[in-house]
Amino acid sequence: MEDFHKTRRLPPYVFEQVNRLKASARSRGADIIDLGMGNPDLPTPKAIVDKLVEVVRDPRTHRYSSSRGIPGLRRAQAAYYARRFGVKLNPETQIVATLGSKEGFANMAQAITAPGDVVICPNPTYPIHAFGFIMSGGVIRSIQAEPDDGFLPALERAIRHSIPKPLALILNYPSNPTAHVASLDFYKDVVAFARKHELIILSDLAYSEIYFDGNPPPSVLQVPGAMDVTVEFTSMSKTFSMPGWRMGFAVGNERLISALTRVKSYLDYGAFTPIQVAATAALNGEGSDIAEVREIYHRRRDVMVDAFGKAGWKIPAPAATMFAWAPIPEPFRHMGSLEFSKLLIEKAEVAVAPGVGFGEHGDDYVRLALVENEHRIRQAARSIKRFLATSGAPADNVIPLSARR
Ligand SMILES: Cc1ncc(COP(=O)(O)O)c(C=O)c1O
Repeated sequence: MEDFHKTRRLPPYVFEQVNRLKASARSRGADIIDLGMGNPDLPTPKAIVDKLVEVVRDPRTHRYSSSRGIPGLRRAQAAYYARRFGVKLNPETQIVATLGSKEGFANMAQAITAPGDVVICPNPTYPIHAFGFIMSGGVIRSIQAEPDDGFLPALERAIRHSIPKPLALILNYPSNPTAHVASLDFYKDVVAFARKHELIILSDLAYSEIYFDGNPPPSVLQVPGAMDVTVEFTSMSKTFSMPGWRMGFAVGNERLISALTRVKSYLDYGAFTPIQVAATAALNGEGSDIAEVREIYHRRRDVMVDAFGKAGWKIPAPAATMFAWAPIPEPFRHMGSLEFSKLLIEKAEVAVAPGVGFGEHGDDYVRLALVENEHRIRQAARSIKRFLATSGAPADNVIPLSARR
């Protein structure tokens, strides 16, 4: 059967190929250690679950809810932004609750994109950043740049060579998959650029609370004037280990938030009210849940960097997110990330996400998610050590302990 106009533009999910191999190895009895999907394994904190259970017993909560989010939830998100970033938001006009940040992002793309509109997107990046716009008829102009001195020149080039002039710029720091973190100075430069070129900024801040080296990642909305051009997406999935609950937010520029709210009002009735009430309680909590989640990922990160390094695979320590972005060991780099990922499943019983799934410029890397416990991460490292030894790969990429952070 012929594909449809839209589905033709959605390539088969690269991760699906790894998943299939993983499933067939498991059906043979293999104990695959799964560092592939970014699916948090930690349970949602008990107080949040208790709140959901309490509220769900009230039949008044079983009706259609509010598409843009119940008022208390939007107020709680405003309080979070005020507390955490010093950013003042009007819950009536500058905040909409979304069914996870992914839904919010995709429907924002749908709300603002006309056929052929050009959108500047980092590569590699989380797939919905590009495909949200592709599904909406947009065209992606990729930039391969980290949030440092190379970014603005890359942006300049993208603007200069795009016809028509780009509509929007995607930012995602801390980044999935690269784990790069942006500074406030970086955001200042980008906001000045965006205002000058009348570019919309869509910032995905899903990892706002998963950081390890003492420096909380900033919000682009902290930059004076950013509100004129920016919408930022946050998520409760990672912060509160609530991925299955589907709860996130879009906040920022009123005109953009109003466009998203309008589209959503045609599509959904909002998350189930008990979920919205429990999410409100989570956001209004005193923060110990967040600190605990952060601490667990922090310890797993340290174990992974140390154990994989000792196994002969040097992995840069991510400063944030729940991922390590690992260069494929030199002897295997020529294979590309998909074939290397398949090899790791077959020979080391470890699943990872192939970098090419995040864009062509990710193909020299694989992404390792911190979603197995410390014991299992060490087990993965031992298995990879055996694999490297038997593959005949020189362990020349081992770095001395003293050089590791
Ligand atoms: C950068 C980024 N944005 C958005 C999401 C999706 O989050 P949500 O569960 O809120 O839709 C993820 C999940 O992995 C992500 O990594």
